[in-house]
Amino acid sequence: MSTLGRPRLHLRSTDSTNDRARALAIAGAPHGTLVTASLQTAGRGRQGRRWIAAANSSLLMSLILRSPPALLPLIAAVAVCDVARADARIKWPNDVVVPSASGLAKLAGVLAEGRPQQGWAILGIGLNVAVRPEEMPPELRERTATLGLSPREIEPTLEALLAALERRLAEEEGATLTAWRALDALRGREIVWGAREQQGELLRGRAEGIDGTGRLVVALSDGGHTELAAGEVHLREVP
Ligand code: BTN
Repeated sequence: MSTLGRPRLHLRSTDSTNDRARALAIAGAPHGTLVTASLQTAGRGRQGRRWIAAANSSLLMSLILRSPPALLPLIAAVAVCDVARADARIKWPNDVVVPSASGLAKLAGVLAEGRPQQGWAILGIGLNVAVRPEEMPPELRERTATLGLSPREIEPTLEALLAALERRLAEEEGATLTAWRALDALRGREIVWGAREQQGELLRGRAEGIDGTGRLVVALSDGGHTELAAGEVHLREVP
């Protein structure tokens, strides 16, 4: 039986399950403690973004992991793909996406936060189990994907995901990297990045997969390569 998900705190509404889990971790909650919610009023995403989901439409969860592995964000994305649609892929570093008319639409997001020096991490996952894209804010509609299931399927999806996480966390790093690479949505595609860092100037290149530490390797037009360790990349729109 899974050691993940016990004890569990389910909240009908909270600001952010990651924030609730963080408070529990600081108070000494054990490895595997799970916080879930039906609604978040201040759900957070990577890069300071908000995570928006209507009540009872998504799996909203945060797990406390003690002694987390370095590749945790990548492991989580692979585990989500294990239980998601067959066409689910990973957009570096850990967005779970499916192909869509506008490029890639997001099915799930992973927000891993922690205190490495204290040996714990919060693994936050939002998975659009029963989201109806037409109910999302207009600017997010085209970029939102869903499993298209009923809200009753949120709980069974959580159970499947906890089991997948348990399996993937027990795996050798090499196996995780192989699984991640097989799900890579960007490999061989032209990408842009760096808008903020470069004051509006976008850098471009071709994604060539991840190295052994999870950095994105990018081929540059001058024949060189660079590795991206963090941040956000986008598919380059071909004019
Ligand atoms: C991203 O793609 O930017 C990451 C999104 C992570 C969202 C989840 S929902 C449950 C948990 N609580 C939060 O506030 N965020 C994560």
